[in-house]
This record gives sequence, structure tokens and C-alpha cells, in this order.
Amino acid sequence: MIIRNYKPGDFPQIEALWRETGIYTMERGDTPEIILRCNTQGGKFLIMEDDLNSRIIGTSWLTWDGRRVLMHHFAVLPSLQGRGYGRKLALESLAFAREKRSPLKLEVHRDNTPAIQLYRSLGFDVFEDYDVYMIHNDS
Ligand SMILES: CC(C)(COP(=O)(O)OP(=O)(O)OC[C@H]1O[C@@H](n2cnc3c(N)ncnc32)[C@H](O)[C@@H]1OP(=O)(O)O)[C@@H](O)C(=O)NCCC(=O)NCCS
Repeated sequence: MIIRNYKPGDFPQIEALWRETGIYTMERGDTPEIILRCNTQGGKFLIMEDDLNSRIIGTSWLTWDGRRVLMHHFAVLPSLQGRGYGRKLALESLAFAREKRSPLKLEVHRDNTPAIQLYRSLGFDVFEDYDVYMIHNDS
């Protein structure tokens, strides 16, 4: 497996992976254009790829707001989970945050035990206990 940067042609495979892992919903409005915009603004989108067949097996979308690195859409293909790939991708994500000299923040559902176990084992801790509010300016 290799970890590389996102390329625009990756999106269809990524979208399928997000759907399969249950982290994709249309209302999030994640598009190739938004990924490129976030990268232009100092973010990084990591792709984990099987170098034998070029299949995308994991994603970590790191955005940077000038203050913190935020990790979104962190996922590994279900058929390949539990083999250490998530940990590898998380370590690479942490390396990016160190490069940016910024804290790394993420949101995770309270019942997502696999993800929470991984984050805790890497040293993450609950930062604040609050609900997340958002307004969709769709029109
Ligand atoms: C979270 C996720 C990326 C982990 O990927 P993974 O490749 O399975 O993780 P790894 O095999 O590297 O395991 C790393 C650690 O995660 C934890 N973990 C993984 N699977 C677990 C499970 N089923 N139950 C409990 N802990 C688990 C363990 O701490 C594990 O470390 P260990 O192997 O030393 O015990 C993966 O479960 C996933 O894609 N989930 C669906 C998408 C998602 O919910 N993403 C998080 C959004 S915040």
C-alpha cells in the first residue's frame, strides 16, 4: 500500500468508498471542486492506494483553516479494515499537522468504537463536549 496525494480523477472511487463506509451523505456537498479549493488553501487530501492494482482503499481529508488542521472523511475500505491501514493513514495525517505546526482536530460519533479506539491509542483525547450545529446555504 502507498499513501499519495489526491488527483482529480480519484473522485468516483473515493465517493464509492465513502458510501461503502457510511460516511457519505449528499447534503455534505463534498465535490472535487471543494477538495481542490481546500488543497489550494493549505490542506492535503491523502489517498491510500493498493500499488498492485491502483485501487483506492483509504482516505484522509485534511483541511487547514490557518489555525488548526481538521481531519474529515477518514476511512478504510470495509474489506480491508483491521489490518493496520487506518493506523498508517492516521500517522501520516498527524505528520501533516506537525508540518503545519498546528493541532489536529476531528469529530467522531460517540458510538464509533473502532475509530475512537484508534484515535485514543494515538493520543487524541476529548476536547470539548458539545453538539455540532450547521446551516446549509444551498440556494
Ligand atoms: C476507523 C477506521 C478508518 C480504522 O481503520 P482500520 O484500517 O480498520 O484500522 P487499523 O486496522 O489500523 O486499527 C487501528 C486501531 O483501531 C482500533 N480498531 C480497529 N478496528 C476496531 C474494532 N472493530 N473495534 C475496536 N477497535 C478497533 C484498534 O485500536 C486498532 O489498533 P490495534 O489493531 O492495535 O488494536 C475504519 O474502521 C473505518 O473506515 N471505519 C468507517 C469510517 C469511519 O467511521 N471513519 C471515522 C470517521 S470519524
